[in-house]
Amino acid sequence: MLRTVFLFLFLSLYLYGDPPVPIGMPPVVWPKDNPYCAEKAELGRLLFFDKRLSANGTIACASCHDPAKAFTDSTPLAVGIEDKKGTRHAPSIINSAYNGLQFWDGRASTLEDQAEGPIANPNEMASELDPEEAHKVCVDKLRKIPGYRTLFKKVFGCEDFTIEQVAMAIATFERTILSGDSPYDRYIAGDHYALSPSQVQGMNLFFGKANCSVCHKPPNFTDNDFSNIGIGMRAKEPDLGRYYITGIEKDKGAFKVPSLREVSRTGPYMHNGGFNSLALVIYYYNIGGAKNPWLDSRMKPLNLNENEQKEIVDFLYALSGEGWQDVRAPQKFPE
Ligand code: HEC
Ligand code: HEC
Repeated sequence: MLRTVFLFLFLSLYLYGDPPVPIGMPPVVWPKDNPYCAEKAELGRLLFFDKRLSANGTIACASCHDPAKAFTDSTPLAVGIEDKKGTRHAPSIINSAYNGLQFWDGRASTLEDQAEGPIANPNEMASELDPEEAHKVCVDKLRKIPGYRTLFKKVFGCEDFTIEQVAMAIATFERTILSGDSPYDRYIAGDHYALSPSQVQGMNLFFGKANCSVCHKPPNFTDNDFSNIGIGMRAKEPDLGRYYITGIEKDKGAFKVPSLREVSRTGPYMHNGGFNSLALVIYYYNIGGAKNPWLDSRMKPLNLNENEQKEIVDFLYALSGEGWQDVRAPQKFPE
């Protein structure tokens, strides 16, 4: 039986050739209308790092999602074109292949939809206020680069490519940026030395007394849902997050439950970048979060002592793994 399963896995990899996923993570579901191919992922990598996608040639996707910073930018609020400050923290795109919806408020349903956003966002990469115009400016500019014409022709069969195809290539690249094979995964796979005693304690608290796993569920340490845990709710005009998209009262102040994979490398934390250490995050959960009318009922004071809080932080370090580190910025761009 096991042999049949392995044979099947091997054959499907051989036939379809999707890239392998790290230990502990499920297969990536590739969309039928944008399947994996190596040339497309490589084209996506070039686009992701290419500053020419921005109106004035100064900002690439990688400016805010920098591989050296685990695909985030280490500032609380993202800084875009002409040093314009955004209103939210740039999340890491590692394992975004597994996200149910994209963005803190879930306003994009696929990575393809998402990728078109920043190119047209006047705070991020665009100078035009009208998104259609911004996309046109970007694509017209890229279409003038013969190297891109050749690459798009190879991948999509046409030289006069569209913004949708730009997004498809970028999304394909993003689906290859994965994290797994962490000390936690190795522990679960049977290596009892993969976690330190303090990390094991932290893990037991995470799944037990501290109740973290009701929202941050393995394997990607999220339930792919949205929740109000009180972040930023004391501001004069709080960011109401998911509510702007759904208009549903209970979604006020709800934000995406982020994956905790690589979390030790992706601070500062939360949609507003408000916490600069994991110790502060745990302190915040320990007091039960900030009270507000829409606070998730699963948020309660936890009565963790200092040592227990430290053990949870130690455990979160065990979610840093392998896979994405191989992704590098291109040495040369199409000319
Ligand atoms: C100026 C900084 C900046 C630039 C440039 C930028 N992003 Fe982002 N990115 C952000 C911020 C901030 C968010 C969160 C915004 C929100 O949720 O409202 C985000 C969210 C995302 C997400 C969603 C991740 C998740 O977990 O929900 C993806 C994927 C992403 N960006 C990819 C890209 C791609 C692809 C590009 C280039 C086409 C790009 N970004 C350019 C700052 C940036
Ligand atoms: C009720 C659901 C829920 C529970 C329970 C919960 N979280 Fe969260 N967590 C969230 C949401 C939602 C966010 C993002 C909130 C925001 O930015 O407004 C978040 C954010 C985080 C972040 C920041 C990640 C980042 O990339 O910015 C960390 C770290 C974290 N949680 C760890 C934990 C730990 C540890 C526990 C247990 C002590 C826990 N969470 C319990 C829902 C939850």
